[in-house]
Amino acid sequence: MRQIFPPPAGAPEIGPLPYGGARRDGGPAVAALAALYAYPAAAAAPWLRATMVASADGAATLDGRSGGLSGDADRLVFSVLRSLADVILVGAGTARAERYRAVRPGEVWTALRGGRAPVPPIAVITGKLDLNEDAPLLAGAAEGARTIVLTSDAAPAARRAAVARHADVVVAGPDAVTPAAAVDALAARGYRRVLLEGGPGLLGQVTAAGLLDELCVTISPVLEGGRAGRILTAPRAGPDAAARLTLAHVLEDQGSLLCRYLRAAG
Ligand SMILES: NC(=O)c1ccc[n+]([C@@H]2O[C@H](COP(=O)([O-])OP(=O)(O)OC[C@H]3O[C@@H](n4cnc5c(N)ncnc54)[C@H](OP(=O)(O)O)[C@@H]3O)[C@@H](O)[C@H]2O)c1
Repeated sequence: MRQIFPPPAGAPEIGPLPYGGARRDGGPAVAALAALYAYPAAAAAPWLRATMVASADGAATLDGRSGGLSGDADRLVFSVLRSLADVILVGAGTARAERYRAVRPGEVWTALRGGRAPVPPIAVITGKLDLNEDAPLLAGAAEGARTIVLTSDAAPAARRAAVARHADVVVAGPDAVTPAAAVDALAARGYRRVLLEGGPGLLGQVTAAGLLDELCVTISPVLEGGRAGRILTAPRAGPDAAARLTLAHVLEDQGSLLCRYLRAAG
């Protein structure tokens, strides 16, 4: 892997990358990635970073899921981003489509957890609570990283009670979850470094609410060529989710471009 923007002062190579194997510290490549993706040290407010992958023609999925767009470098950076996060935020549509499960210790770099719980919890946003309470997303979470289910007052009471057997159910909005209330609820639990893993619908709402601080997007050397949607879906027609970004860095590995954008000042 090499850094191609900004032009690095020293050697541009970050690799060799530790693909596979145990996830303890990952050596110099993972340390270099952790430094490149470090959350701001003293952010006054919670920091909301989104991570997404797109094909070269802008698709967010291949055969209905994002996995086919991902490559080795994207998967490695994904694990570093998870390791750096206090909490992982995801829409229920993605949790269902991508068969989400609670994060396991072998999926994060222990050295990057810095005294926090060994794994970050997953926080799912859902109105219907159409989640299998016995599946690994809810029932498989470790103590200290119980899955958080962010829902609204309007959620079906029976579903709330069923899900609450294994997860922490948090109401964050009257009829639907308000993105700002969701982020506040996570911050109230001490989770300020938020990693939003999609999907496009939730990313659109978060951006329209002015909450997105950072977007990490991998552009994969793949043409989807079909009718898949983009990585962000605006909540309504019109430019609600339009936002200006500043390019922070670009890494390249095996033809994948790993771009980190920050919200533009002002
Ligand atoms: N390319 C990538 O990087 C990437 C990343 C993630 C996902 N994806 C793909 O994107 C697709 C899913 O994305 P999506 O946009 O359809 O779904 P999504 O944003 O992940 O989830 C939508 C669902 O989240 C819940 N939700 C969202 N906002 C809510 C709110 N304000 N209040 C209450 N509930 C809310 C609802 O769940 P309920 O229906 O339970 O009420 C809604 O149906 C999948 O195909 C996935 O593979 C791609």
